[in-house]
Amino acid sequence: MGFFVYCNVRFLVSMLLCFCWWNLPVFSQSSNADWWKSTTVYQIYPRSFYDSDGDGTGDLNGIIQKLDHIKDLGIETIWISPFFLSPQRDFGYDISDYRSIAPEYGDMETCLKLIEEIHARDMKIVFDLVMNHTSDEHAWFKESSFNRENEKADWYVWKDGRGKNGQKPPNNWKATIGGSGWHWHEGRKQFYWASFLDFQPDLNYSNPEVKSAMLDVARHWLSKGVDGFRLDIFNSIYEDASFRNNPASLRIVPSEESPDGFFQQMKYNVNQEGSFRFATELRAVVDSFQNPARFMVGEVFGDVETTKKFCSYNGKDGLHTIFLFKTLSTPFKAKKWRKMVEEFEHNFAEPFVPTYVFSNHDRRRSITPLDNDVRRAKLLAFFQFTVRGIPFTYYGEELGIEKPLLPLKTGLDPLAQRYKSIPQFMVNLTGQSLNRDECRTPMLWDSTQNAGFTSGKPWLPISQNFRNKNVQTQERDSVSLLNFYTRIINFRNENPILQDGTLAIAKELCNRKVFAFYRELNEAKVLVLLNFSGQEINSEGFSSELIFSTHSTNNINTLLPFEGRILKLQ
Ligand code: GLC
Repeated sequence: MGFFVYCNVRFLVSMLLCFCWWNLPVFSQSSNADWWKSTTVYQIYPRSFYDSDGDGTGDLNGIIQKLDHIKDLGIETIWISPFFLSPQRDFGYDISDYRSIAPEYGDMETCLKLIEEIHARDMKIVFDLVMNHTSDEHAWFKESSFNRENEKADWYVWKDGRGKNGQKPPNNWKATIGGSGWHWHEGRKQFYWASFLDFQPDLNYSNPEVKSAMLDVARHWLSKGVDGFRLDIFNSIYEDASFRNNPASLRIVPSEESPDGFFQQMKYNVNQEGSFRFATELRAVVDSFQNPARFMVGEVFGDVETTKKFCSYNGKDGLHTIFLFKTLSTPFKAKKWRKMVEEFEHNFAEPFVPTYVFSNHDRRRSITPLDNDVRRAKLLAFFQFTVRGIPFTYYGEELGIEKPLLPLKTGLDPLAQRYKSIPQFMVNLTGQSLNRDECRTPMLWDSTQNAGFTSGKPWLPISQNFRNKNVQTQERDSVSLLNFYTRIINFRNENPILQDGTLAIAKELCNRKVFAFYRELNEAKVLVLLNFSGQEINSEGFSSELIFSTHSTNNINTLLPFEGRILKLQ
């Protein structure tokens, strides 16, 4: 009976969408080659998604078993954080073999089955490619660090130190997480450069052999049918060839829009011309695989003008798109969002497509800055799936999984360990997750022990309120956040205007409480209205045929608190 009920709610939602149909063609107008422009992406952190063998950590087989959850949501593309062979010191972002699967996640056969199962559902799969660095346990680094003469001696960024004994770092560059990024290696009596943590040495892309080896890694997975890549810290690939010192800066901590921090401008270690150029080389490799065309999204940090060069260097093709992390720091206010969308539309006008991401495995849960308020979370989802751009949903966002408070001191995350001397109350004040364990707690599947995530001991704690936040419970509740996600994503899928339509801000309707924009495609036009306030707003002036609302309402003249609605104009 229970199963029947929850199946039915989702089934009903889909059927309703078919019937609430209005006169537009059903399929997106994006050509096959441009499928990514109108896609929707769901990010899986494999360690935390579903554990099929009871060892307390998620695995590939677990993902296969839960694919229908993502399919039912209406999502097209799945991006999976790295599951390659790794000592797991940074939980997979420290790779020791790009072509093998970490045994705790599965094996090659399961990986190929995963690709096949995703394609069988008419979905796409995007791998996470960590090109900037390897683990210090990668065979390449072991060989490279052995002495200065071996065949891989120049595969990493090695430099002599300064000072009398050569024990001072070669220059003043800071790692992106603070502290010198140069690390002394006793074997070579030299320093190696690491943009992130010391056990993640940067590869040396000015060595053509390195470049070609890494392009081969990309080819390897593309030839196995992978539909594209999310590219980890892609703006750190190249360094300045003459290793000039970075200039001073007053900035203390880097932000999403500026990598400058720790009192220096990251002028010579990130966002280098070589990295922009490399984006075009990688694009050529990716484009050599067709039917279907493949897709890349870069994790880059910096102002939009600079980072946009990753998508179009000297007018040539680069990455398809990049993450625009301003979304993570923009307060949930009508005017701020209007400004953000205006900026994204300006900088990423056609043929570019902006991205909209509100949390990931490094950043606090998206519902946290919304005071864990489900009404706001629905409006956020409504925005994400109605605005022009590629929406990224991080697993559990559709349930409103909340950020727990996990102390730095006991954090498994290597960043938490690095910062553990920072007083906890200071971290709590920021509301951010310096301990990234907080962003990675297990997916909540049902109300049984461990929320149905594992039959063993979960590697991270299960959310305390899992009994009302899990998939099964929310599937049975017609007004749950999960059912709202299903409703809005399927509505978007059925309405090409929301995928491919142009966007124009409805300036005359925007104010402190309301953000509004038009979407237009061919002869059709809709108005999207978002009430960012907790008050009702008289909307008589802009009433028209209501075709979608976050709420169940027929009152065309009143915009309800935190309501998002779509009106058909023509
Ligand atoms: C990226 C990843 C993060 C990882 C780091 C080093 O920022 O998102 O999780 O720790 O790169 O690879």
